[in-house]
Amino acid sequence: VEKMLPLINEINELKKQQDTVILAHSYCAPEILLGVADFTGDSFKLSKDATTVQQKTILFSAVRFMGETAKILNPQKDVIIPGPLTGCSLADSITGKDVEELRKQNPDYTFVCYINTTADVKAACDVCVTSGNVMHIVETIPSDKIFFVPDALMGQNIIDEMKRRGVKKDIKLYNGCCYVHENYDPDLIQFFRSQNPNLKVISHPECNPSVAMLSDYVGSTGQMVSYINQQPKDSCILLLTECGLNARMHYEHPDMNFIGSCCMCKYMKSNSLENILEALRHPEKAEHISLDEGVRVKAKKCIDAMFKYAE
Ligand code: 13P
Ligand code: SF4
Repeated sequence: VEKMLPLINEINELKKQQDTVILAHSYCAPEILLGVADFTGDSFKLSKDATTVQQKTILFSAVRFMGETAKILNPQKDVIIPGPLTGCSLADSITGKDVEELRKQNPDYTFVCYINTTADVKAACDVCVTSGNVMHIVETIPSDKIFFVPDALMGQNIIDEMKRRGVKKDIKLYNGCCYVHENYDPDLIQFFRSQNPNLKVISHPECNPSVAMLSDYVGSTGQMVSYINQQPKDSCILLLTECGLNARMHYEHPDMNFIGSCCMCKYMKSNSLENILEALRHPEKAEHISLDEGVRVKAKKCIDAMFKYAE
């Protein structure tokens, strides 16, 4: 804390001086979320927040696809990503060209992409979704043939959920997956449940369907936070998502007992107070998001379709 406080103070001073707003995803380190971020949350909330900010620069403590989403929606803003590892195993698993190829082979399918994709992929798809609205959107869109890219595990969770809801749609999948969430396995849940039958298991839809099936609640990072906020104070919780959210929940609910292992996303965790400060001190050396205007306009249509169906 002693070393962090001067960094937090300098960042907060510089961001005011430089007309910069800081957005940070829930998986970032607590010192970023609690110390310097103006907006925090899941991908959907942050993409909405990005459309409301007044400042001329958005410093996005997250990964590249989130910065691209902010730029797609606000082309006039300067969007900066501070971390050195800006990838995401899902966003890196498919290109716009791959989607165009799949479209040729599946001309009568509606292409639905997860928000964890590049601007090129969004530009080649029809509707974007986030972990929080994917089930609602897939159920609602007026199409019986859906090609979902790129997360195969989330895709299988969609197929299972549509079956439960009695929705008959032909859903094809790609083969991407998140290297963090694929690690969780159902044996871990069975083991902790055998020790504590009152355990509440909460997981992200990027987890394997065998994990989602055994969970009491499955949702986006924002939805998981809301669900935890409604639990009794003395709850015992197994939270199966990136460890940044576990850290934040420990802090916000000191009486709850959070158990389980921590799977870390090296991309999200490559953001730090040090590189946020560096990006503010030397913006000319930082990574600024720049997009081809034709790609941006098409990608915006795909995101706007999400806003329309998410309502
Ligand atoms: P959320 O939209 O739930 O925050 O998920 C983003 C993400 O990258 C999960 O791994
Ligand atoms: Fe991508 Fe997985 Fe990291 Fe989320 S946790 S940013 S899906 S690699």
